[in-house]
Amino acid sequence: MAEPSRILIKGGKVVNEDCSVISDVYIENGKIVEVGPNLQIPAGVRVINATDKLVIPGGIDTHTHMELAFMGTKAVDDFHIGTKVKKEMETLAKEKGVNSFKMFMAYKDVFMLQDSELYAAFAQCKEIGAIAQVHAENGDLIAEGAKKMLSMGIRGPEGHELCRPEEVEAEATQRAITIAHAVNCPLYVVHVMSKSAAKVVADARRDGRVVFGEPIAAGLGTDGTHYWHKDWAHAAGFVMGPPLRPDPSTPAYLMDLLANDDLSVTGTDNCTFSVCQKALGKDDFTKIPNGVNGVEDRMSVIWERGVHSGKMDENRFVAVTSSNAAKIFNFYPQKGRIAKNSDADVVVWDPNLTRRISAKTHHQAVDYNIFEGMECHGIPIVTISRGKVVYEDRQFHVSPGQGKFVHRGPFSEFVYKRIRQRDQVGRPAAVIRKPYEGKVISV
Ligand code: URP
Ligand code: ZN
Ligand code: ZN
Ligand code: ZN
Repeated sequence: MAEPSRILIKGGKVVNEDCSVISDVYIENGKIVEVGPNLQIPAGVRVINATDKLVIPGGIDTHTHMELAFMGTKAVDDFHIGTKVKKEMETLAKEKGVNSFKMFMAYKDVFMLQDSELYAAFAQCKEIGAIAQVHAENGDLIAEGAKKMLSMGIRGPEGHELCRPEEVEAEATQRAITIAHAVNCPLYVVHVMSKSAAKVVADARRDGRVVFGEPIAAGLGTDGTHYWHKDWAHAAGFVMGPPLRPDPSTPAYLMDLLANDDLSVTGTDNCTFSVCQKALGKDDFTKIPNGVNGVEDRMSVIWERGVHSGKMDENRFVAVTSSNAAKIFNFYPQKGRIAKNSDADVVVWDPNLTRRISAKTHHQAVDYNIFEGMECHGIPIVTISRGKVVYEDRQFHVSPGQGKFVHRGPFSEFVYKRIRQRDQVGRPAAVIRKPYEGKVISV
């Protein structure tokens, strides 16, 4: 049998979503065994000194597309899971540990669902205790807008944003929320990219809807002014749907809403195409494969623009990068918390060190980086995955296939408690009346 892996992380500040405390963390065989001050540990245990560092739960990226076959090519970073149709949804939820399904309101004639189909899909999610996720953009309006731009001779990446302005995203977001409410189904809006759509989500939450909004690293860290860059390849690199917005105040606005719990959780929508793949659309922006990077830089970008900027504290950082995802997708506190019996997914984080993001030094397969040149405070020093050190001294210690699927049960309490109660007390009832006995016209 392999030697049990035993690690003591000593003297760091353990940060969870609700509090921070100076503690040691003792790990054995992939699990956190003890959290507390000055732990007495047997000899032979590996000790990681975390003095003046933060010890945070491993980040959970809520949204990626590895190896996605899309728009005539395939995303260059690998790993992808896809799903479809009603019976399969039930099997996936009941037997395979999948409890969320993404529905598209965009990509007309490819993935786009009509309202009646969304209604049926949301109803099925509710039935099986899953979370309905939507890509909220009005696909019909995008198709019309794209025709209009092309007819005006606008063929470059700027056409991508011009054909689908903010209200196209905001309208679909509102529509999805309305349809989900009609079946009392919890809704998760993926990649909230605009101020207008974020406001729709925030208003809905304040109106009591069970809805979660997911801004992504790209939308929090950069903006859509790049679509107007003179260098085609540079501009095309930022093409994704919904687009980054040209209003440069958008990232800070989304971060404010994330800090205040109007938005809940962060992903990346990492879906990377190298420049030569983007070039499928060199003469027509509608053919540029949609997607950007983010998976490697998400934590640093959110620390920089969220915590270093003063918009959120370290605990909210943990909530939006890890704990909230674990709660929504029903694997908390197995993941998303530094606590006894939780999985030992731990990052030793130095909030003071800085790095400059660049495609020259990143580890992704894609040949550019939308955050190129951004200086970020906040650097992972050591990353531990299920009790094994997988990153240390700027070196990875991982091999393909080491990742493990996390089985997620249906009816996440965090999401479904309110839904269930509303079903019980909010059921409409018919009014009991005496029968009408007057005249009825003949037809
Ligand atoms: O442009 C994007 N977002 N590409 C990935 C596919 C999707 O719509 O999420
Ligand atoms: Zn999408
Ligand atoms: Zn630029
Ligand atoms: Zn996506």
